[in-house]
Amino acid sequence: MNIDELKNDFLNLYGSSDMEIHAYFAPGRVNLIGEHTDYNGGYVFPCALSFGTYLLVRKNQEKVLRFATTNFDHRAEVPVSQSYSKEGDAWTNYPLGVIDELQKQSMSVEGLDMLYSGDIPNGAGLSSSASIEMVTGTAMNDLFGLQIEKMDLVKIGQKAENNFVGVNCGIMDQFASGMGEKDHALFLNCETLDYERVPLVLKGIRIVITNTNLRRGLADSKYNERRSECDKAVEEISKVKPVPNLSRLSLNEFKELSENISSEVVRRRAHHVISENDRTLRAIKALNEGDIEAFGQLMNASHDSLRDDYEVTGKELDTLVDEARKIPGTIGSRMTGAGFGGCTVSLVKEDAIDEFISVVGENYKKKIGLTADFYIAEVGDGAKKIGVI
Ligand code: GLA
Repeated sequence: MNIDELKNDFLNLYGSSDMEIHAYFAPGRVNLIGEHTDYNGGYVFPCALSFGTYLLVRKNQEKVLRFATTNFDHRAEVPVSQSYSKEGDAWTNYPLGVIDELQKQSMSVEGLDMLYSGDIPNGAGLSSSASIEMVTGTAMNDLFGLQIEKMDLVKIGQKAENNFVGVNCGIMDQFASGMGEKDHALFLNCETLDYERVPLVLKGIRIVITNTNLRRGLADSKYNERRSECDKAVEEISKVKPVPNLSRLSLNEFKELSENISSEVVRRRAHHVISENDRTLRAIKALNEGDIEAFGQLMNASHDSLRDDYEVTGKELDTLVDEARKIPGTIGSRMTGAGFGGCTVSLVKEDAIDEFISVVGENYKKKIGLTADFYIAEVGDGAKKIGVI
């Protein structure tokens, strides 16, 4: 991202003034393992990406919040007020939701001119929305001297998405965008919010993200359906052994208790969550021991469980993963994020990356008819101020 060019765009849009322009950045994320576990109080293992959303912001005297982005034509001008309402499915709901949440927590806002710019693919399951939330929260915290702890900004981002935007997501995406650190993945317990930054030592191996480029049509409703299936499992198991969430159960305990779940489908959903927690713990152990092959095998098993038990993959993601695994230099490959389209994440030996991109790309196009995009991920820092520009 060229910040000078973005500053020019800002000045062309809003004109010049005596007030300073402040610049901020928050990244997207890729989750390495631990999928659909966050809202079940389980473990996740994401990392922040080097791409995400930039925000230039300047105070104005007109008590108006002006939102613009270089990514879409849609802009909004919202008078500063006590509370705000959602506008259809506009992108501005994400930043406005954060401002709304901050005001509820006693921040008093002044007029602001804001220009967002994302270098992250939208709607691809790489958390472009969490990056907009986190860049907004980080900017407000700094501009108005709110002194909110980073972890609380993460929770505010999630609340904005749950309550204002209306998507019932867990905390993983905002957490990764807020708390990421260059060349580290984040091992988070989503029940206690205890976390550890684990160095990603990948020696000759790169993280390759592949975008199905499938529009994620029913993603939100299917996501909420999975959440209620998990709630149902907790409710039925709790009649015999009270548990606050599925992640409190070991695989052995689940084997003994699973017959209390009346629906076979719900039993498989719960099995995914509990086995995924187990895989995530084993994967982190493997990484700490330098056993990257074992880590890759667990990534593969994670995808298979998301395909067979949780049923959130679909033929596009499955095809990318199948083709990826045929390349000898692939260590492991799985879907990442909510699923139903979006991206896969693969660990690939550096010298096999050209082959990976050309063979997986070609076979995906042949079988599915869509063109996949490939990104070699750099693991970057969490949300931060760039400076006064
Ligand atoms: C989406 C949600 C996250 C998480 C993942 C699945 O990215 O925003 O909270 O539930 O799906 O692991």
